[in-house]
Amino acid sequence: MTGDPTQTRPTIALGADHAGVELKATLRAVLEGEGYPVLDLGTNGTESVDYPDFGTAVAQAVVGGRARFGVLVCGTGIGISISANRIPGVRCANVHDSTGARLTRAHNDANVIAFGARLTGPEVALDALRAFLSTPFEGGRHERRVRKLSPDWERTP
Ligand code: RB5
Repeated sequence: MTGDPTQTRPTIALGADHAGVELKATLRAVLEGEGYPVLDLGTNGTESVDYPDFGTAVAQAVVGGRARFGVLVCGTGIGISISANRIPGVRCANVHDSTGARLTRAHNDANVIAFGARLTGPEVALDALRAFLSTPFEGGRHERRVRKLSPDWERTP
């Protein structure tokens, strides 16, 4: 009996502004298809909204333990990542490819990834998200640096 392998998948919190709705929906569908529990904190329409509201909501879900990782999308990925990084304990990387996604997990122990839907296409974003979710933190010399970002940091198994 090996059990259901999807039960070990971490919960992913998702957030976007109006510019990121479509890419968020694409990423959400793939995550759900791969068995990740998803916490979608909106927005879900095309009405203009303010990206800090969604960056903050996802950041709080991650530091509050409701999700292991966060995924954010706005037009550039910049504003929403800035807002997430204002929440202590969040290390959000605005990423444009799978190399950045892999290295920010390995070196920064990033717990939130942000995409710019106006800059990054869905295939590239998906590759990056997969790299992000499958790369462990490397530890070692990076631990000291991560503690300078997040003084209360503890290694998550
Ligand atoms: C919204 O038009 C746009 O400013 C926002 O999605 C984002 O790119 C901000 O950084």
